[in-house]
Amino acid sequence: MQMNENFFDHLVIGSGLAGLSSALALAEKSSGKIAVVTKGAVDDCNSKLAQGGIACVMDHADTFEEHITDTINAGGHLCDPEAVKAIVEAGPERIKWLMDIGTKFTTRGDLGDKLPRHKDELDLGREGGHLKRRVIHAGDITGAEIERALVEACRKNPKIQIFEHHIAVDLITTSRLGWEGEDMCLGAYVLDSATGKVITFSAYTTSIATGGCGKVYLCTCNADIACGGGVAMAYRANAKIANMEFYQFHPTLLYHPQVKNFLISEALRGEGGTLKMQYKKGEYSTFMENYHPLKSLAPRDVVARAIDTELKRTGQVCAYLDMTHKSEEFLRKRFPHIFKQCEVLGINMAKQPIPVVPGAHFSCGGVLCGVDGTTEIRGFYAVGENACTGLHGANRLASNSLLEGIVMPKLAAGHIEKCLPELKEKRPLKAIPEWTTGNATNSDELIVISHNWDEIRRFMWDYVGIVRTDKRLERAKRRIRNIQAEIEKYYWDFHITSDLVELRNIATVAELIIDSAASRKESRGLHFNADYPERNPDLDRVNTVIQKNTPGAILVPQK
Ligand code: SIN
Repeated sequence: MQMNENFFDHLVIGSGLAGLSSALALAEKSSGKIAVVTKGAVDDCNSKLAQGGIACVMDHADTFEEHITDTINAGGHLCDPEAVKAIVEAGPERIKWLMDIGTKFTTRGDLGDKLPRHKDELDLGREGGHLKRRVIHAGDITGAEIERALVEACRKNPKIQIFEHHIAVDLITTSRLGWEGEDMCLGAYVLDSATGKVITFSAYTTSIATGGCGKVYLCTCNADIACGGGVAMAYRANAKIANMEFYQFHPTLLYHPQVKNFLISEALRGEGGTLKMQYKKGEYSTFMENYHPLKSLAPRDVVARAIDTELKRTGQVCAYLDMTHKSEEFLRKRFPHIFKQCEVLGINMAKQPIPVVPGAHFSCGGVLCGVDGTTEIRGFYAVGENACTGLHGANRLASNSLLEGIVMPKLAAGHIEKCLPELKEKRPLKAIPEWTTGNATNSDELIVISHNWDEIRRFMWDYVGIVRTDKRLERAKRRIRNIQAEIEKYYWDFHITSDLVELRNIATVAELIIDSAASRKESRGLHFNADYPERNPDLDRVNTVIQKNTPGAILVPQK
């Protein structure tokens, strides 16, 4: 072992719901030490911002079959039915586990239901594409409540050590090191932001749980950390990356000059909220009836595209979500966080419609893996949003992501428990070389980083957003190529910083989205190309797969 090497049995990269659940699931199954590395504070994550909740069959009037059907219907003929079944059916046990570690979900009693038999029952919300009420929630701060409970449980667990402000730079694989034999993940190079040093974390298993990549787009409700680090590192390690063209835009981010990135949960539409446009000043009119029979509760791809179409057609700057059919008392109780945020801005949502616009929200693509997170690289697992299991297909059903984020870690820990003896046996005994950076002098041109970053986010929004065309994708490709070339130069010529690591990751993910979108000559779910506005049934259940050592995206039928 080299001086600069930290050895753990298991390394988890990312500390949102999937990362911390992974650490806890591993701690239950293994006696070994677990490191969680995370680039900000432990709770700087996307999961914390989740408002809606976790879709799960918890009501006797609901069935697994119905949840599976709703998921597959939303998924545009691209879901893997076996993955959907495995994740949906594992849900109830994981909800119980979350409650056992102290998560407090909203009950009907909390919302004023006085019937003794209802008092302790979980309240079930509804969101777009769900034909039943099945969204378990903690008011409208579900993610924050779950994250709180997970952080507490991890902090109490002596097997888990959390490294805050440590950003993973690259995975360490035997093939990267030029070592012979089957490709195996040995850990990761990690930048300690406080010291500026890159440390080697070595481990028998490495799980990435870095969440999404909303920061690749100009308008997003994602947290600042959402830069696609896991997918970018996995791509550089030659893992297979699938379906990156299916990027989900949430239809309703708050539109207000003083507030960026604030989500207005779909759960509001689940309570009867209606989308409207102001075609004439002071007059609000519905429009979703022209787009889908489920109107404002249509699947998210349909709603986001409908709003985008209306905005472009009329030149308006925003749509509106009307909740005025509900009393202020109900809204304050059911959506306290959203109510307060609107109120601060002078919007009383019980009395006036909320201005909204679509924004980048969720990546349905990611590292191609099984529901247990397994990839083709031994010892390397992907869990949560940076994974592509086949659950979401071409369009994620609302609140299925937190479900996936709590189910996958348990399945992955089960797989790891079984394979650990073999991983130990096969691990090469050689020392891992230290990270080396080019000439390691400080750049005096840091402006280049922020300029490149802004440029990527803007052209991704304009050319690779809700509506794409071949020409727009070609333009985006030309631009990303130039930026990639600059970044490679900076990476090796200048001292490594977390900003540079994030920029490199965002650029990689942007290129993966562009290439995947360009290779899919059809429109399906979240991928809409105006040059091919129809779905091509020959591409049903066909994934777009990209791998670094096999240039270009290829279309691969699911097994
Ligand atoms: C929301 O609350 O609208 C977001 C839920 C989700 O994206 O699953």
